[in-house]
Amino acid sequence: MAVVGLQNEIERFQARTPRSQEMQAEAVKWLPGGNSRGLNQDPNPVFIERGEGHYLYDVDGNKYLDFVLNASSMIMGHANPIAVEAISDQAERGTGWVGPNEAAVRLARILCERVPSLDKVRFVNSGTEATLNAVRAARAFTGRHKIAKFEGAYHGSHEYVQVSVKGSPDPVGPDGPAAKSEFPGQPPSILQDVVILPWNDLEGCERALRRNADDLACVIIEPVASTLGYAPGRPGFLEGIRDLTTQLDMLLVFDEVQTLRMAPGGAQELLGVVPDLTAMGKFIGGGLPAGAFGGRDDIMALYDPRDGGPVIAHAGTFNANPLTMAAGEATMLHLTPDVYDRLNGLGEMIRAKLRAVFDELDIPAQITGIASFFSIHFNSEEITDHEVASRDDGELRKALGLGLLNEGIMLGSTICTLTTESEVDELVDTTRRVVQRVRG
Ligand SMILES: Cc1ncc(COP(=O)(O)O)c(C=O)c1O
Repeated sequence: MAVVGLQNEIERFQARTPRSQEMQAEAVKWLPGGNSRGLNQDPNPVFIERGEGHYLYDVDGNKYLDFVLNASSMIMGHANPIAVEAISDQAERGTGWVGPNEAAVRLARILCERVPSLDKVRFVNSGTEATLNAVRAARAFTGRHKIAKFEGAYHGSHEYVQVSVKGSPDPVGPDGPAAKSEFPGQPPSILQDVVILPWNDLEGCERALRRNADDLACVIIEPVASTLGYAPGRPGFLEGIRDLTTQLDMLLVFDEVQTLRMAPGGAQELLGVVPDLTAMGKFIGGGLPAGAFGGRDDIMALYDPRDGGPVIAHAGTFNANPLTMAAGEATMLHLTPDVYDRLNGLGEMIRAKLRAVFDELDIPAQITGIASFFSIHFNSEEITDHEVASRDDGELRKALGLGLLNEGIMLGSTICTLTTESEVDELVDTTRRVVQRVRG
């Protein structure tokens, strides 16, 4: 679609963000590209001064209704008094020591009681560490060195999962997708030890898994593919992967770093498929850096230091630190089953209302997502894999994102416990207005 209004949105955005531009000029002197996140906002990033409730406030005095929510982790919004109180109370009593703390035991219990696959958990400080340790546990438990992951799937930034993260637009051959390096100098052994699976193609997965069955420790999978716009797999796909891994004696690892927010017991509860190991992160630390991995007792026993020491030594200066544990516990206690139902109901409402807007404007678009996630694709083909997902109207996407920022909305993929129908309508009505404006 011809996006006549893109340049206008860029100019408006630049006029609204002079202080952010000054900060970015300073930032690039000290940080490559100006930041330490996976962020490359064009024409410039927005420097945030503070967050409160559903809103972020930038250094230029602009206010944004936030649907990014720190990549879905601020499930109760920003500076929620429940988390702030827990953090302040704990901060006054110290933020770290080597010995255990009670909040960690309570948070572990909450997770194990809610998430079907968890008999035991260990805490780390990010989703990256959670998936790193989950696949290591699978290798140690099975005594096999290879892992399988899906093409285009993101599981954090450690070596074993930084393979074929960028979905390839190439059609997949009979041997499945080739393992593709994400950056120069990646050890060739990594490319040999990570088997890449085709999303939504159970027969292709079966061929690849059987070919590598003697060496494969596990399959790591997001139960709902976040990089495809939170589109669940085809009916039977996840169940098929569960059956295959059981048959072939491999472990199934769910990356629930994002999807845990779909239900008290995560996507595994909502979708009814239970893995052997689960990696978690994001909101479980109440807005502080957090991660956890866990699973069956016999696997997690690898970490038990009693009786002759652990099979896998796993230390971490800030693992289960009392500050994160206190914030995490307070947050999890607030997230009762009713709260998840409410979030998921609002997610359904956003998806339906956004769909209606694009239908009304006759723009080829589709809205995917599940539970409290939503995603806009400027492509009307069913999003089954990365080849399809890569066909998108990039100009319209950029114009919509900037146009929404100019109207005080940060477009992301999810909502928080503070979202009501009024915030949903603000997003939907503003989207309609911006799309009408940019298409001229
Ligand atoms: C599915 C998934 N796995 C793992 C990670 C890594 O988590 P973190 O950024 O906390 O290292 C992310 C982060 O966005 C994620 O979305």
